[in-house]
Amino acid sequence: MTHQTESEYDAIAGAYKDSKQLSFREYIEEYTLFETLGDITGIKVLDLACGEGFYTRKLKRAGAGEVLGVDVSAEMIRLAKAEERARPAGCRYLYRDAAALVLDEPVDLVVAMYLLNYARDGNELLRFVRAAHGALKPGGRFVGSNDNVLYAPGGTVSYARYGFEKEYTGTPSEGTPSDGDPIVYRFTNDDGTRFEFNNYYLSPGTYRRAFEEAGFVGFHWIEPRLHPSERDNGFWDEFMAVPPVIGFATVKK
Ligand SMILES: C[S@@+](CC[C@H](N)C(=O)[O-])C[C@H]1O[C@@H](n2cnc3c(N)ncnc32)[C@H](O)[C@@H]1O
Repeated sequence: MTHQTESEYDAIAGAYKDSKQLSFREYIEEYTLFETLGDITGIKVLDLACGEGFYTRKLKRAGAGEVLGVDVSAEMIRLAKAEERARPAGCRYLYRDAAALVLDEPVDLVVAMYLLNYARDGNELLRFVRAAHGALKPGGRFVGSNDNVLYAPGGTVSYARYGFEKEYTGTPSEGTPSDGDPIVYRFTNDDGTRFEFNNYYLSPGTYRRAFEEAGFVGFHWIEPRLHPSERDNGFWDEFMAVPPVIGFATVKK
């Protein structure tokens, strides 16, 4: 798994970074994450699957005391470190497989934006979730976002006006995907650049079991929220009616 994911993101790292400029990132993705997190002043944070550091920097600038970003793509980590040199935010970065991560010092909060949907079965998922659990202090939170497993219609679903579509390969339209089925995300950035990557479907039950088995409590899904400044803007209706992504939050016992 690691090598395929690694090369996939090495090749698309720059395009993925640019996709963070698509408007749904700011008005829905980022808004939902920071609404969920609340006050993070002074706390220690681990950003698992940090990519080129988009949220790592935002977490630090939102007041976190220390933030470590970890990613398995060497190119993503290179971009993150280059940004840190150019415009220091005070973040640290580590090139590592999240499933194999062991920290010397535990953190208060683990954030994982689009990591868990790289697991292809319950065992791979459990390895990610256990790594997050192992990194946390008791009472620490694990918060993130994934492909929306509560709405998985099969076939191709277009979110073209927001810059992407997703295809449940292996599942016909209106069929229910099985654990491990690939979901191809195809993006078109504001400058017209196109790129794609795969996620993998796992059922809501597989997620719940992994969190429970790892020792988390209070697991719940978090529906995407729209920034208040956009609430009267019909542009977002399609996205909010059938959100492509979904958040989650849980706590280490
Ligand atoms: C969709 S990107 C999200 C990046 C970042 N969290 C963000 O929201 O901008 C998914 C990231 O997961 C990373 N990733 C996938 N499998 C991983 C693993 N086993 N360990 C660490 N990172 C992984 C990829 O390299 C990629 O940077």
